[in-house]
Amino acid sequence: MDMAVNVAILGFGTVGSGVAEVLAKNHTHIDEKVHAPIRLKYILDVRDFPDSPFGDKIVHDFSVIENDPEVDIVVETIGGAKIAREFTERALKAGKSVVTSNKELVATWGYDLLSLAKEHGVSYLFEASVGGGIPIIRPLSRCLAANEIEEICGILNGTTNYILTRMIKAGLSFEAALAEAQQNGYAEKDPTADIEGDDACRKICILGALAFGRHIYPDQVPTEGITRVTLADVAYADACGRKIKLLGRAIRQADGRVCAYVAPHLISSEDPLGGVEDVFNAITVRGDAVGDVMFYGRGAGKMPTASAVVADVMDAARHIKSMKYVAWGPGGDDVVAPTDGLESAWYVRASADADAVRAAFGDVNFLARAGAPAKETAFLTGPMTRSQVESKLAGLEKLSLFRVLD
Ligand code: NDP
Ligand code: HSE
Repeated sequence: MDMAVNVAILGFGTVGSGVAEVLAKNHTHIDEKVHAPIRLKYILDVRDFPDSPFGDKIVHDFSVIENDPEVDIVVETIGGAKIAREFTERALKAGKSVVTSNKELVATWGYDLLSLAKEHGVSYLFEASVGGGIPIIRPLSRCLAANEIEEICGILNGTTNYILTRMIKAGLSFEAALAEAQQNGYAEKDPTADIEGDDACRKICILGALAFGRHIYPDQVPTEGITRVTLADVAYADACGRKIKLLGRAIRQADGRVCAYVAPHLISSEDPLGGVEDVFNAITVRGDAVGDVMFYGRGAGKMPTASAVVADVMDAARHIKSMKYVAWGPGGDDVVAPTDGLESAWYVRASADADAVRAAFGDVNFLARAGAPAKETAFLTGPMTRSQVESKLAGLEKLSLFRVLD
């Protein structure tokens, strides 16, 4: 056995407490695999946890961790891009590797933090930032490294997939389903980030940066959440053998730029992504040599996320004081292509009669549902761009408009 590796956790919430539990429960085989004892030395939080078995490790001052030369690895599970960024920078500058589940921080400041880690010869690892417990960062950056990646498409947010599943299968209201997701520890502190698509946006930025080699900023990615999806849309989707899922996509264009966006889609029930329910996430990666590869598992929650964080801690422990593989180039206006040119079929629900729809769109595939109000018409179009579908809809009262993934 080598010398002990000391770890400090920042933020003893859902993920941070899971990390402490996994480190304690599985310490024998973790130590064996790393060939060194991994010791949890501190937990930083704003509160005390007198009833926790880890209560004696709580500190409230980050400089205790920063200035302790025995601390090798800092686990950042506070969240957000303010104090978490400050602590991450200070830890890296102090020569400590940092492991995080914080996708907001990685998506916003990943290039800068990876550069800072490199400058100080330490690792900045974030396997848990996308897909919760699903291994995706390592496979994408290592196992698929020989490929030119053509497209990444995934269900990237556990909370919204859980909400959609509970609404459809158990008939729960949106609010009740969201409350369950929060109780289960899946949702962000401010769940607006989940339901408005920002969380999925951050994740597709991270995957896009890894796959295409340049930082993609969240504000470069058009993002729509699930708040406009109604049970009427779900019924129409069902009528044509499809499900509604929130997808993040990043597609390489012929000129090398990346077309990335987040939006609800209608997906065939027979598509592997169509069968992904509950808190599960799934990510399809298309490489020019390998073809399609799919990653599936629990996308949120305490223990699945802790599983990914602790794996990164073990990796950092094996490479103490050395930079670990992950890196990408800076962002810029030349990285991202607009989504305007992206053609797809569209699902439309409008307050219009069928003749008006035919006059605007020509032949379409009309859909039916029980209990539809008079004048509500839903249909699937042929392939066209968003501006084409919007211009055809100009004279009709649009109620819903989602892409169809074919
Ligand atoms: P929590 O809110 O449950 O945990 C954060 C903890 O940090 C809380 O105990 C919080 O205290 C504490 N904290 C807040 N400010 C400070 C501070 N200044 N100093 C020290 N501690 C502080 O969040 P999660 O564990 O759910 O998420 C953590 C990160 O992991 C986020 O970035 C999230 O997006 C990400 N993530 C979460 C997943 C999940 O399933 N929950 C899955 C994958 C990633 P208080 O509660 O008092 O504010
Ligand atoms: N709130 C996030 C989700 C946590 O529901 O997917 C996992 O990143």
